[in-house]
Amino acid sequence: MGTIEDVKERIDIVDLVSQYVALKKAGRGYTALCPFHSERTASFHVDPSRQTWHCFGACGTGGDIFRFIMKKDGVEFRDALHTLAERAGVALDQRRDPVEDAHRARLYEINEAAAAFFHSTLLTSDAARAYLDERRLADSSVERFQLGYAPNSWEALLQHLAARGFDAKDVRNAGLAVEGDRGAYDRFRHRLMFPIRDDRGRIAGFGGRMLPGDALGAGDVHAKYVNTAQSPIFDKGSLLYALDLAKDAIRAQGAVIVEGYMDAIAAHEHGFANVVASMGTALTERQVALLKRYTRSLTLALDADAAGSEATLRGVEVVAGAVDRESTPQVDWRGVIRQQETLAADIRVLTMPAGRDPDETIRAEPDRWRALVAEARPVLDHLFESAASRHDLSSPRERSDVAAQLLPLVAAVGDRVVQSHYLQRLARIVQVDEQTLRLDLRRARSAATPRRAASTGPGELDIPRVVNPVVHDAREEFCLALLFRYPELRAEGLDMTPELFGQSENRALFDAWIEWSDEGESFEASLTPDLRPQFERVVNLDLPSFDDDALVRALRSTIGRIEQQRLRLAKRASVAVISDLAVAGGAQIAERALAAWRSGGHDARGPADDEADLAAAFVEDMEAGLKVHQRVLEQRRGTGHPAR
Ligand code: GTP
Ligand code: MN
Repeated sequence: MGTIEDVKERIDIVDLVSQYVALKKAGRGYTALCPFHSERTASFHVDPSRQTWHCFGACGTGGDIFRFIMKKDGVEFRDALHTLAERAGVALDQRRDPVEDAHRARLYEINEAAAAFFHSTLLTSDAARAYLDERRLADSSVERFQLGYAPNSWEALLQHLAARGFDAKDVRNAGLAVEGDRGAYDRFRHRLMFPIRDDRGRIAGFGGRMLPGDALGAGDVHAKYVNTAQSPIFDKGSLLYALDLAKDAIRAQGAVIVEGYMDAIAAHEHGFANVVASMGTALTERQVALLKRYTRSLTLALDADAAGSEATLRGVEVVAGAVDRESTPQVDWRGVIRQQETLAADIRVLTMPAGRDPDETIRAEPDRWRALVAEARPVLDHLFESAASRHDLSSPRERSDVAAQLLPLVAAVGDRVVQSHYLQRLARIVQVDEQTLRLDLRRARSAATPRRAASTGPGELDIPRVVNPVVHDAREEFCLALLFRYPELRAEGLDMTPELFGQSENRALFDAWIEWSDEGESFEASLTPDLRPQFERVVNLDLPSFDDDALVRALRSTIGRIEQQRLRLAKRASVAVISDLAVAGGAQIAERALAAWRSGGHDARGPADDEADLAAAFVEDMEAGLKVHQRVLEQRRGTGHPAR
């Protein structure tokens, strides 16, 4: 799936950089001595909210996690991606590596063979068939979802697959067998089998449900469901059950996300084809990203317990991808809200009536289900309502509890206007004036930034716990979308500088596009597989329609805005760096910079000491500002339209 995105999600820039230099908190970010050159004063800045770094000293450059490794190791983007993917434990999609390629293909093949086997044995198992009847599953669903039965045996699958040329090692690699003291044995015994397909319909793994009656060796394994072990093609957090069948309907109607296999199957059976299952774990950012290819509208179906529970409201953190857990899934609301912001999706919550799951509701009262979906509430409204309904708001004590629960959630909202709306609402509910809440909010926001563990050594493998919100740059992506969709912009695009793109994947796409000649294979086909998800994301953006003139104007003004935004962020970071320096007696730097700039700008580079570097950086900064300004003016003159 989106390898680059996976890596960004799992590696935090602060963690990464702190393995090489000691970071010091400064404002909303961190400063450090630049790891790329020796200096006495800290001119290196890290911005956790944007996941970027910048050196205002001799480097005068910055970027994201990939660019950091590229510069540190002196390597290309692909090598940096390799390094970081390994560190993050993300399998690289290497369709171009023939060995990996063959390995993955074989895993899919084994899964296909296993699914066919399980499906065929379903006919021979009375227990499984009786169970399906009891659950009222239609025969057509059994076929469509290719449900199956894993026999109550230690080696039925192993033997079946051996006869088809797959040895025990293959089967183990596919996560379908376990290595024991006396050799490999079948992982699934006496279970109802659900093949889990990826969005393209390939079987990535299985879920197996326990059935009435004892399974061999089940003494210690009472889990209701067991999954295939994690493999290069099976990662639960990157898959959604039934997505292959739901894609088109999701495009037309938005997605509804339920928890269970049984729920998704019941929905499809009754014509609710836009339903997918998250398979029990909290929705991951990767799953949301997957859905976002088809829609912006997501509705989460939660059972009454999870939706309203105190624990859920407190925002219990759920480790995405945890399998075989015992307890009911909790939703990490802060994560959901953050996802809503980063991905600009419209996320709603549908609360199931107490004691009912979607499966039962859909089968018993399909119209009720339809109404529940239609009445789903925006996620924050839902949280406000359920907090209010669970507390006695006439008691000051309880009002304070409500404030404590909701404030961190409001703090997670990125959009100022939306945040303000909910803050006002909270103020009304808890009867505290808004200003006071705003102060608390600021505190809540800094507490929400996850605390870093002490840095580990560079060689150590760091198992990531925090899921980072992935930063996308809408302007950069809009720019690329224009270039990729409108061939007539090619000439204009060839004049653009790659440095415009701060997100490494965008820059890599741009570089690839520059090198691509439109005579041979299509641009998409020329890309390495790891860049394709981002390419897809970009070309599928909604663009307004343009006439030729407007097209060029749109491109230029987007470029202008990227530069402005870059400048604004750089300013903010440089303020942090300078105020840090001022403490150490470097307050004259800005003055020197100004003097240098007035005298033509260049003497600031004089002696090779850091302060001069900083002064030079200031001059460049000012010059860049002028350039942007000039461009805006030119555009205004050139087109007769006021720039917005
Ligand atoms: P039924 O209980 O048969 O109706 O199945 P269900 O699909 O409705 O299951 P449930 O609502 O209990 O759980 C929702 C989903 O969470 C399941 O479909 C599984 O994907 C997942 N799940 C539940 N329990 C376990 C477990 O013990 N281990 C694993 N790996 N997954 C589980
Ligand atoms: Mn169920």
